[in-house]
Amino acid sequence: MNYFNYVNNRLSCENVSVASIAETVGTPFYLYSHKTLMRHFEVFDQAFSPIPHRICFSAKANSNVAILRALVKAGAGVDIVSGGELFRALQAGCPPDRIVYSGVGKRDDEIVFALEKDILMFNIESPQELAVINDMAGRLGLRARISIRVNPDVNPHTHPHISTGLRENKFGIDIEQSLEYYRQARELSNIDIIGVACHIGSQITDIAPFVDTLDRLKKLIGLLRQQGIDVRYLDLGGGLGITYNKEAPPHPTEYASALMAEATNLGVTLILEPGRVIVGNAGVLVTKVLYIKEGGDKHFIVVDAGMNDLARPSLYGSYHEIQPVIRQGTGRLRGDVVGPICESTDFFAKNRDLDAFKRGDLAAVMSAGAYGFSMSSNYNSRPRVAEVMVIDDEFFIIRNRESYDDLIRGEAVPESLR
Ligand code: LLP
Repeated sequence: MNYFNYVNNRLSCENVSVASIAETVGTPFYLYSHKTLMRHFEVFDQAFSPIPHRICFSAKANSNVAILRALVKAGAGVDIVSGGELFRALQAGCPPDRIVYSGVGKRDDEIVFALEKDILMFNIESPQELAVINDMAGRLGLRARISIRVNPDVNPHTHPHISTGLRENKFGIDIEQSLEYYRQARELSNIDIIGVACHIGSQITDIAPFVDTLDRLKKLIGLLRQQGIDVRYLDLGGGLGITYNKEAPPHPTEYASALMAEATNLGVTLILEPGRVIVGNAGVLVTKVLYIKEGGDKHFIVVDAGMNDLARPSLYGSYHEIQPVIRQGTGRLRGDVVGPICESTDFFAKNRDLDAFKRGDLAAVMSAGAYGFSMSSNYNSRPRVAEVMVIDDEFFIIRNRESYDDLIRGEAVPESLR
């Protein structure tokens, strides 16, 4: 079920016309469908209902407090990778016992923050981090619940920039060595081992790497239990892909069945950390066509959003569908959709067959709900765009467009330069 549909050739989000939102909010802006978000979460969560589980939404995909709040209200926990994400999760009312904390570079102040809030668990990424957390917990008179994030050395067959579970990646601890580190962790006085964690990559469109990983982790859990180490949680990370173009990723129910077939009777609570599959297709980036420029033998459609607003095409060469907000039916146009940024990688589409856009038309860059706003920047001193959520027949600004004043907030000119 898709809540971005054309009604009389006008793109609508649930029951609101996208063009009418643009009139009020201006462009560019991110637009999210609450119904789509909820549906994606519920389908995913339901799929695992036969076994004990917790879905910890990966905040890095989209950390807007309203998005987090909607998911937390529906029962989600949050997967965080920074103090800032912890702050956001708490602002969204997420109970700390539903928060898991991954990341290879947890800072001391971030560790203290998470210990004080008593989050469910730290996913440990290195022996040194384990020692530091033990130390800090001791100093605070607290205990840290941990899993070791193991690197299962599984190839997820995805874009090399977003695969994380290979031995060559910086993430996690080699699965072969992890047993030894678990033994060491057991001796630490302020550490409670509660689980095993991993995350092998993102935009994975095949079930096999997930099942392979689970297989390896099951063996590890067996070995740990033989040593008397208690494993109550198994965190399998995120990574399930979505359809941007022609990809055919497994449906969440298929993914869940494959995992549950392996994980029943394992005696653990399964934790999943999906990001993209929950929010990716629940959001679009709405932009306005500024110019149609004839360049040599092709057209450039210059729009008012840039790679600072949506970095995925320029970073990974990612494909995003580009749809007209109002279908004109006036023919087709082949060309590149580009932004205003002073970089040749500032594009949203290359050599694409598109609606015959003209100056002033609105375009929707589809499937932009995940790693869209959350990766945006102020490059070229562009205020970050507004974020809007539609709920049924109403829309709500869930983040104001930044102002020029926002751009220089916190900047200061030394006295001697005044
Ligand atoms: N858990 C951990 C530890 C992660 O590192 C990630 C994503 C996730 C969960 C969520 O993965 P997902 O379900 O969204 O695939 N910026 C890139 C994606 C980077 C993913 C980083 N880690 C992109 O735009 O494609």
